[in-house]
Amino acid sequence: MKEKNRSEKMTRRNFLQTTATASALVAGFGVPALFGTAKKGFVDTSVRNVTLNNGIKMPILGFGTLYLTGSEGAEKISAAINHGYRLIDTATIYNNEDAVGEGIKRSGIEREKLFVTSKVWVDDSGYEKTKIAFETSLEKLGLDYLDLYLIHRPRGDVKGSWKAMEELYREKRIRAIGVSNFLPAQLNELMADSSVRPTVNQIEAHAFFQQPGDHDFLNRNDIHMEAWSPFAQGRNGMFTNETIAEIGEKYNKTNAQVCLRWNYQRGVITIPRTSREAHMAENLNIFDFELDESDMNTIAGLDLNTTQFPEWE
Ligand SMILES: NC(=O)c1ccc[n+]([C@@H]2O[C@H](COP(=O)([O-])OP(=O)(O)OC[C@H]3O[C@@H](n4cnc5c(N)ncnc54)[C@H](OP(=O)(O)O)[C@@H]3O)[C@@H](O)[C@H]2O)c1
Repeated sequence: MKEKNRSEKMTRRNFLQTTATASALVAGFGVPALFGTAKKGFVDTSVRNVTLNNGIKMPILGFGTLYLTGSEGAEKISAAINHGYRLIDTATIYNNEDAVGEGIKRSGIEREKLFVTSKVWVDDSGYEKTKIAFETSLEKLGLDYLDLYLIHRPRGDVKGSWKAMEELYREKRIRAIGVSNFLPAQLNELMADSSVRPTVNQIEAHAFFQQPGDHDFLNRNDIHMEAWSPFAQGRNGMFTNETIAEIGEKYNKTNAQVCLRWNYQRGVITIPRTSREAHMAENLNIFDFELDESDMNTIAGLDLNTTQFPEWE
């Protein structure tokens, strides 16, 4: 992993000190950050942070909330926070910002311990509409600032939206701003005409669609890549893929854990979604093993170089 993208606190020593299983630690206490200063013999299972290009720290592993709506969705979000997730990813188009807000409230966590992302949808593109959409999102979430606000898709009046977001950023209503689903050319166009550099581009990225070209471009421009659908929602047999399973067997890890760990070692932020508490714990439990170079190369060989979501194109 490049030094620039290397997440903090991940040292060789952390791994060599490993003896206990992370799952026991996470399941037992639910607050991985407690283990940042663990004494010898314990695993540091805490979710690592990356530092965005404006100096803000963001967890490299978070919780996706697509389809988690209503009271049941709020319960899942609250459970995820209690399991140790601190980065929560929502969007206006998910129609669940109220559920996310309710989940946060139910969890009882202090606001400043969370990193909350939302996104402005294409219908709200443009300066005025984005300003209104932002206020609506905050109101639904029951928050008075966002940690990260993204342009969901590169459609409509992108520059107008960005100008609104730059202002909100300067007014400290948002700690970082970024984009989603932008191609390098679209990012270049945006950056040529703006005064705040995007911190993040959230794009589809998983073992079957790895996006190495976009990843290089983003690294060169000091923009973090964030992977949506890191499991491709299980499409193309991701959870049963034999190549991934063989790698997982070496470390006693599941396909899901190998997939998340692979993105982590590439310096890519991931936001897996699950409704099940067992999977919430499993997906957090990726900080006590390390894929070696041959594993990384084997997974690189699984790239199909095409989206698993053609219906969203
Ligand atoms: N910016 C964008 O355009 C965009 C687009 C899509 C998604 N996103 C964001 O990215 C997040 C993640 O993507 P996603 O929700 O599409 O899908 P995903 O995280 O790739 O996959 C979710 C599916 O994986 C299953 N799963 C989770 N953990 C598992 C485990 N350990 N073992 C087996 N199955 C497991 C879940 O089922 P169970 O509930 O049964 O565990 C669920 O069916 C979204 O929630 C959203 O926040 C953004």
